[in-house]
Amino acid sequence: MELAHVSDLHVRGPSLGPWTGLLSKRWIGALNGLWRDHPLALLERILDDLRRRPPDHLAVTGDLTNTTLEGELARACRALAGVVEPARLSIVPGNHDAYVRAPVRARRFEHHVAPLLGLAPEALVWPRVQRVPISGGAADGDLALVSLNSAVPTPWFTAYGRLGAEQLARLDEALAAPAARRVVLVHHPPVQGDGRPDRPWRRNRDGAALLARCLARGVDLVLCGHTHAPFRHRLARPDGRPLWVVCAGSSTRRARALGRGGTYHRYWLEPDGPIRLDVRGLDPSTGRVEQVESVALT
Ligand SMILES: [Fe+2]
Repeated sequence: MELAHVSDLHVRGPSLGPWTGLLSKRWIGALNGLWRDHPLALLERILDDLRRRPPDHLAVTGDLTNTTLEGELARACRALAGVVEPARLSIVPGNHDAYVRAPVRARRFEHHVAPLLGLAPEALVWPRVQRVPISGGAADGDLALVSLNSAVPTPWFTAYGRLGAEQLARLDEALAAPAARRVVLVHHPPVQGDGRPDRPWRRNRDGAALLARCLARGVDLVLCGHTHAPFRHRLARPDGRPLWVVCAGSSTRRARALGRGGTYHRYWLEPDGPIRLDVRGLDPSTGRVEQVESVALT
């Protein structure tokens, strides 16, 4: 089966929201959104490429918005609607989708995103566990796909994430069920490309606990975002097989050259054996989305 992964869309809304909101931490996000370059047209190009050759499943690992405004969420969800069927879509929130307390208390992200997933807002709970059939290879089986929520409102000038004991316990249960493959989606990477945690003010504070469970329970891939430059890091599981932590970077970061910004990932998974990763990205010289690289994750 083919699993596509996009991340960190940072869709800007029609306005910066009520001016009173700018008295909160939101002004940092508003400034960030103005100075960082995440063109909506680039998101459309990437989504068009997905529509042209729809994957079996699409994963979006957070930061749909800049400051969790209704207008940003509505615009991001409009763009994502219909790319794949609701049952073939997984979306987790990022820190920018839980920017300040009020929208988190109101479950604003869940209210906007649940209909895209074919769910009632109250049915979108974390972790979300999906089973996706995989065919091909000698022994057919299921992919267990676990979506985690690491997004918590944090103080000014910080962007760390947390999963909490309850979510980790339920993740453990979900991973214990038999499956041919296991993939975990989380916005905040448990480690960076060098195998070390991110800086304290922006790291996944439950990253070590998450990795320990993924290693012990036979997870193949941890797919994340948050860090806007893509990276991948290999760890060895106790059964000798690899666990790859792969960050898609920001799929809407303006492309400077083919493979530098404006990229997304497509994974080919069979019940067994190495996973193939195809990176696709916008070539700014032609305006087309092209293959950047194809690697076997061994
Ligand atoms: Fe983030």
